[in-house]
Amino acid sequence: MDIKKYVRPEVLNLPTINAPDISDGMIRLNANESPQYPWGDKSSNLNRYPPIRPSTLTHKMAEFYSVSMDEILISRGSTEAVDIIIRTFCRPNLDRILITPPTFDMYQFFANLNSIAVCETPLLQENKFELNVSDVINSIKQEIKLIFLSSPNNPCGTSVSNNDVIKILNAANDKALVVLDEAYIEFSSHQTMINMINDYPNLIILRTLSKAHALAGARCGAMISNNKIISILQKILPPFSFSIPNIDQIESVLSSKNIDAAQHQIETIIQERIRLVEELRKLKSVDQIWSSDGNFIMIKFNNLELAVKALNKQNILVGLLKNNSALTQCARITIGTKSENNLLLETLRDLV
Ligand SMILES: Cc1ncc(COP(=O)(O)O)c(C=O)c1O
Repeated sequence: MDIKKYVRPEVLNLPTINAPDISDGMIRLNANESPQYPWGDKSSNLNRYPPIRPSTLTHKMAEFYSVSMDEILISRGSTEAVDIIIRTFCRPNLDRILITPPTFDMYQFFANLNSIAVCETPLLQENKFELNVSDVINSIKQEIKLIFLSSPNNPCGTSVSNNDVIKILNAANDKALVVLDEAYIEFSSHQTMINMINDYPNLIILRTLSKAHALAGARCGAMISNNKIISILQKILPPFSFSIPNIDQIESVLSSKNIDAAQHQIETIIQERIRLVEELRKLKSVDQIWSSDGNFIMIKFNNLELAVKALNKQNILVGLLKNNSALTQCARITIGTKSENNLLLETLRDLV
């Protein structure tokens, strides 16, 4: 697969942004920064731009995901990654993406924003919202450049098996790239496909620190793929996009000690998910619950409005899925702490 054939010509022609080597003690008269400390605070280095590309953080993230530096590009959350990938490969008003609704709404959002048409292959509602693999394969046409698969999927919580992703990768080879969004993979029993990025030239994986690693506020995600794709995606990422405090904070938490702690927290959330599903299944107000591989569950209430009113009265917010006509009585509920989950159960207990 000659990846250059799939890239927007204007992107191919962009120069790659290169960072000058800046070491301590250099006199920095190259970037129109202020030579003064901000508000006289001599401990601050915020008068200087951050690195154009945060290479130390990238190195740590590469180690974290067991890939090499040229196989990863970090972004401000995987939300930004979706936009970067669409703008790299899709020509406005010509190309299309394929999505499998109900799914993460940012795929459609950034396609719309960039004048890219969206083809839909809905998940099989009658079959636990599983992916319709043959329909996805049959929908691969020339103008489809990207296929977005979220596994586990937001909002349904269902996963796509690696075998099914491989079938799609093979069918799309030389036609389209497959973006496998593994935002919630840590909560699932499925294995990541990161180790296959060099087996499938059309595979891009999205990861994020926002979910299992409890760093949604830090905005840090990653695109992981073969080095040819990463070197092209690099061109689109704006310079200086990670601030100095952001880089410092994320680097300081990416230690093996904290990663072990995250594993413990992931286990706790999975246990709470199992408990919550069991308890919710007993409630009269709940019509259906789908089993989930994420840190959330999707529930169909007998009367969504009533349930949401009662929850809001207790200051509990849940995700509403009104955009999808199949899910009008459904809510997506994030697994909270044990006491938050208990309050949720208590609130719903007396509803019908
Ligand atoms: C499937 C999926 N992918 C990506 C994201 C974006 O995560 P972030 O931008 O915080 O990395 C979300 C957020 O909810 C999501 O549900």
